[in-house]
Amino acid sequence: MENVLLTGGAGFIGSHTLVELLERGYQVAVVDNLCNSCEEALARVKKITGKDFAFYNADIRDRAAMDKIFSENKFDSVIHFAGLKAVGESCHKPLEYYDNNIYGTLVLLETMRAHGVKKIVFSSSATVYGTPERLPLTEDCRTGGTTNPYGSTKYYLEGILTDLYKADNEWNVILLRYFNPVGAHASGLIGEDPKGIPNNLMPYVAQVASGKLKQIHVYGNDYPTKDGTGVRDYIHVVDLALGHVAAIEKCTTAGVHIYNLGTGVGYSVLDMIHAFEKACGKKLDYVIEPRRSGDIAECYANSDKAAGELGWKAKYGIEEMCRDQWNWQSKNPEGYNR
Ligand code: NAD
Ligand code: WQD
Repeated sequence: MENVLLTGGAGFIGSHTLVELLERGYQVAVVDNLCNSCEEALARVKKITGKDFAFYNADIRDRAAMDKIFSENKFDSVIHFAGLKAVGESCHKPLEYYDNNIYGTLVLLETMRAHGVKKIVFSSSATVYGTPERLPLTEDCRTGGTTNPYGSTKYYLEGILTDLYKADNEWNVILLRYFNPVGAHASGLIGEDPKGIPNNLMPYVAQVASGKLKQIHVYGNDYPTKDGTGVRDYIHVVDLALGHVAAIEKCTTAGVHIYNLGTGVGYSVLDMIHAFEKACGKKLDYVIEPRRSGDIAECYANSDKAAGELGWKAKYGIEEMCRDQWNWQSKNPEGYNR
């Protein structure tokens, strides 16, 4: 069983992946500076799994700290979640985003190389496709044309990781392009806990359902989609976590392996609101607003490559996504800060 380091393991996707790895007997360690998460998430992971693991409260840009972590462990691979991810904020703070996401990854890669660890799973994003060349998106679709610094960090890092493999064919680089992760662990103990007002649709919807926010703002109903609202490929975060387990298990040879992780089904904003209404048993108030700048009409995956090569397929649908997101939201109305 591999010994895996999770950078950003206290975050939304990291904590769910941690659960799935621990439940399968992996030895894991987490490094996270808690800039967008809290230690309580890790305590909850221990509660769910009954397992312990090492936690390093450190910044991946801190070379000395990273060197110490790699000296104290014998990692076989790294799953690299750590990064800043708020699209709007990245437009105001591009240097902070490039420093954290790009420089942070360079320090991580240099430390890995120094310690002979050459397998990395990178949290990439459907955002690298920019405006989709065609739908559904396959891994060979054109990338680039990203519309914000956050998206550009993902696009550039894919390039940097690919260059690294070209220079040293011993590297095993796995680029997982996530679509729109939503939902939460079925226990209701871990979930997404955005700081401040959520930027993403589903945490916003969940907070309207719990009464924390008043009304959903639907950004545009004049897109060329079935009901005019934006269409996305929402994926249950537990399915996404299982995609990482599959990648660690199946990608055993050096190379650059790229996979879309989505369900292949697109749902509109109104579809998601109505499905959430069913899950929470309430009508949710919404208002139509102008389009949000930088948004595209539709984005959904073809995930056949992951199915064929990793044996991975999303199991959960829109009902389970809303059920589990509501379970988390209603049990933790203030997130981890109860
Ligand atoms: P998150 O913010 O919940 O998790 C990221 C974690 O990284 C946080 O715990 C944060 O404290 C930590 N972190 C950030 N910078 C760090 C640093 N310099 N040193 C150490 N720790 C640091 O976000 P998430 O939704 O779990 O996303 C995980 C990864 O997946 C990110 O790289 C994100 O860009 C990517 N991704 C997310 C989505 C999404 O919609 N959630 C979609 C596509 C890709
Ligand atoms: C979904 C749909 C909005 C909020 C973002 C990043 C992407 C990736 C995933 C990391 C769109 C609409 C939203 C609201 C709304 N992250 N919406 N009211 O924009 O598809 O993707 O998260 O890599 O890079 O860009 O996700 O959840 O923000 O929006 O109507 O309050 O919901 O217009 O159609 P998006 P989202």
